[in-house]
Amino acid sequence: MKRTEAELHARGEALFTADYLPEGTLFAAVFASPEAHGEVSHLDTGAARSQAGVVAVLTAKDIPGENQIGNLIQDEPLLATREVHYVGQPIALVVAKSEALARRALAAIHVVIQSRPAVFEPREAFKRGNLIGPVRTFVLGDVDRIWPRCEVMVEGRVDTGAQEHVYMETQNALAIPREDGGLKVFSSTQAPSMGQRLIARVLGCAMHQIEVEVPRLGGAFGGKEEQATPWAALAALAAHRLQKPVKLALRRREDLRMTGKRHPYSSDFKMGLSKEGQILAYEAHYYQNAGATADLSTAVLERSLFHATGSYFIPNVRIQGACCRTNLPSNTACRGFGAPQATFVMEAALFRAAQVLKVDPAALQRKNLLREGDPFPYGMRVENCRAEACWEESVRRYELSALEERIARFNAEHGLEKKGIARLPLCFGISFTSTFLNQASALVHVYTDGSVSVSTGAIEVGQGVKAKIQAVAARTFSIAPERIKVENTTTTRIANASPTAASTAADLNGHATRLACLTIAKRLQETAARLLSCDRPEAIGIIDEMVYLDGVRTDLRWEQLIAQTYLDRIGLSAHAHYATPQIYFDRNQEKGRPFAYHVFGTAIVEVTLDGLRGTYRFDSIKVTHDAGASLHPAIDRGQVEGGAVQGLGWLTLEEILSDDQGRLLTDTLTDYKIPDLYFAPEVHVHFLEQAENPEGLFHSKAIGEPPFLYGIAGYFALLKAMQHFRPEVKMDFAAPLTPEKVLMALYAEA
Ligand code: MOS
Repeated sequence: MKRTEAELHARGEALFTADYLPEGTLFAAVFASPEAHGEVSHLDTGAARSQAGVVAVLTAKDIPGENQIGNLIQDEPLLATREVHYVGQPIALVVAKSEALARRALAAIHVVIQSRPAVFEPREAFKRGNLIGPVRTFVLGDVDRIWPRCEVMVEGRVDTGAQEHVYMETQNALAIPREDGGLKVFSSTQAPSMGQRLIARVLGCAMHQIEVEVPRLGGAFGGKEEQATPWAALAALAAHRLQKPVKLALRRREDLRMTGKRHPYSSDFKMGLSKEGQILAYEAHYYQNAGATADLSTAVLERSLFHATGSYFIPNVRIQGACCRTNLPSNTACRGFGAPQATFVMEAALFRAAQVLKVDPAALQRKNLLREGDPFPYGMRVENCRAEACWEESVRRYELSALEERIARFNAEHGLEKKGIARLPLCFGISFTSTFLNQASALVHVYTDGSVSVSTGAIEVGQGVKAKIQAVAARTFSIAPERIKVENTTTTRIANASPTAASTAADLNGHATRLACLTIAKRLQETAARLLSCDRPEAIGIIDEMVYLDGVRTDLRWEQLIAQTYLDRIGLSAHAHYATPQIYFDRNQEKGRPFAYHVFGTAIVEVTLDGLRGTYRFDSIKVTHDAGASLHPAIDRGQVEGGAVQGLGWLTLEEILSDDQGRLLTDTLTDYKIPDLYFAPEVHVHFLEQAENPEGLFHSKAIGEPPFLYGIAGYFALLKAMQHFRPEVKMDFAAPLTPEKVLMALYAEA
């Protein structure tokens, strides 16, 4: 099956929010705080207002409802009033007849801000008590009782950096007033229902007055979950005040400066092992750099805690995490959602332990892999565990011992270049950790010609969810995929949708689609039974668009069946709702069954390091991935390839730098380097065979976020290569490990 939108994208014909431009549209530009923390003592927009082409300059005073767009925690004004908390915080909105005129007027706004001390580091924020939500602690067994019995102990600190989402399409929205005083809003968002709810809050109107439609997204990666809302709400505010269509689109530099990133974490770990390498106890403290507002930080931290022990069983665990409020743009969801940060800390601890034990880290990884029935610190036990299966399949398929020999030979023969190799066993829990979000609905229409329209809350962000939903409907009806159109998401057709996030969109919305199709299929069986004079509708089947009776093919075809069902005045539409069964989590006990299932896998990364220059090239990533029975292997392969390379980028190339005033320095894509085709290694992807997932849709598994974690192996492969040059090289676990940092470490004084 082809991607549903492949041809449109290849021809450049796919329409995005920015392509919609009704006549008379006005353009908005955002005036943002130049200070990281301070009090606004004076704001003068008069000069900007009187510039040619400017229609209005809006401030918080123009908000008819609540000046509040915080979702989980209500700590985020749409427009700043008295205080500002980060450089880039919106203060005012200029609306003009063109984008250029709107931006030009920004310079005429005069603001005076009394600076206050700002905090940028999470440990500093923690010391001052600047926390969002409670400090969370997950406990298994009793670490304090076990420490004295550990024969090997390691401790250390780990820092991981921010990561920009770099969706190709920057944040943008278009709001159009309607005859009834409501608004239609086109928004580039992963979360149209949340946008609808928050726009209604800002405008002080009922949710039914606001329709949010999402054509498709040019990438999101979590950056358009909460952080699409401000721009949609600002466009909505202006359209509401001026009763004209208003477009707001951030330019790349504005987007880089004003929006949040992956959360940087600073962490401490302590690990105790037996001298045989069994991990007996593990303790970690995460200081999460949340930025200025809560956004999704508490949920991201929670996922870190869930993934603290990676793909390993550890009998005694104590994990603590704090969301630390700083004066940076609020950090937010980013593919992996806290799991990569926690998994990296775990792998760093193991790497350090392997150094002390003088063994290959892979030996420790293998020894401690999760086995069926092992408990996680959050209470759930691992079911259908494939950690060892993926590991062993990798060893076989990628001929690991030959690979290691080849690398050893290379290193013996080369003085200026050294290779390193490392592995990452993956374990990633699937479900929103906020249990209530694990629901979805679908609306399916069959038209009288036999063609089908499917609407769900799943947003096409480029991940191919439409193709998966199409596959689900085609399989359920047993008709050609070409008959099925998957519609854009709009809040009038699908209400109260959860965001397209947590890797769950195809799972949840696919399940709902299947249920809606089954409802219609049941009615079709009844029609067919009548037509075939059979009193047992259950004896009717549809296979490849033909009706079967008791397994025997009849002459009745799909189109005829549909036409007759309509003539019989039977409904050809259905709406269905799905909620993931049997999941819950008790935040008082910090125990429960938060995930429907886990995704497993193993990656092997090989890197070649140039010891004169500190530059490196990732040669290959070899993956064995547990996709269940994949709904769409081509799409899943693409997600593994893209995720793994994005993970490598996070830990190596991608460095976000701010100055001491909290101003972003890496605010162009020439300063901020992301992986490109030249950087990308060969990616080999093998899907584990016979891997049906009993909990999954058609026995499949979610795919979006887990493969990002494979990039973690790249970091440790690089450390290994550095050790081959200089065995005593100082290893402080601080990502990203850019070529500069590699070079400095290789030549640092001992
Ligand atoms: Mo995703 S990082 O859960 O939007």
